[in-house]
Formats: sequence, C-alpha cells, structure tokens
Amino acid sequence: MRKNVDKIYQEIPRLTDVKMIRDPRGALGVVEGVKDIGFNFKRFYFLTDLSEMSERGGHAHKTLRQCFICLRGGVTISLEGWGASYNFRLESCEKALMVPPGYWRELKEFDGESLVAVLASEHYDESEYIRSREEFEIF
Ligand code: TYD
Repeated sequence: MRKNVDKIYQEIPRLTDVKMIRDPRGALGVVEGVKDIGFNFKRFYFLTDLSEMSERGGHAHKTLRQCFICLRGGVTISLEGWGASYNFRLESCEKALMVPPGYWRELKEFDGESLVAVLASEHYDESEYIRSREEFEIF
C-alpha cells in the first residue's frame, strides 16, 4: 500500500499542448484519452459563471487523475504535494494541465468570462476526496 502511495506522489503535474486543427473555418481542438493525456476519462465537467472573486478547489483527490483546460478566460491553479508546490496560469485552450492524484489544489484569479473544462479519470466519488488539511498532511 505504501508503495502505491509513493508511486502516486512521484508523478508531477505537467502541461501539454492540445492538438489544434486549423482551417479557414476556424479551429478544432482535440484531446484523446491515454495517448494525449496519459489516462482515459470517464467524466467531463466544467466550471462557468465564475467571478474574479471566485475561489474553487481546496481539496485533493486520493486516486483521481484530472486534466484542466481553460477554454475561455483565465485561471490560476496552485498545486501542492510531494514536498513541492506548483503554480500554473492557464489562459489558452491550447494548453492542458495534467494533475495526478494526491495534489491539494486551489483555483483562483478567474477572468470574468472564464470557462474551465475538466476531464476526470473516474466517476464522481465523494469518498476519494480529501477535504481537510489535517487529512492531507498525513495522506
Ligand atoms: P468540487 O469538486 O468541490 O468543486 P471545485 O473543486 O470546483 O470547487 O465540487 C463542488 C460540488 O459539486 C460538491 O458538492 C460535489 C459536486 N460535484 C458533483 O456532484 N459531481 C462532480 O462531478 C463534481 C466535480 C462535483
């Protein structure tokens, strides 16, 4: 079990390029499971109706993998885990942020019209959230 936890933590968040197919009609962005983002997704959700004052996140996931793409506007995503902290500013639909399990995240500094898409490796399961800092510290 301890081995699994170590393996989870050793993965670091990373940005990857979203494949963009452009022609005179516009642009089409594609993200495919496994080959583009390293995991298959079972769930898509999005954050909208955000204000510049909105702050989301404030939790970690024990097992869930996620991919964040800011389709419109901007968002700052702060991640903390495995003794390291990361700060990502997403403001282009051409970048995807991969977040492995075990990272505490804060989402803030949204632009007024932000639209943030999230691909998740599993269905929603509240029992795999870590919502308290106390629990996170000993995870
Ligand atoms: P949460 O994951 O805490 O959102 P954020 O990290 O953006 O602040 O979820 C907010 C609420 O929505 C919480 O009550 C759980 C619920 N929820 C679902 O029912 N299904 C889902 O797929 C997600 C992501 C959240």
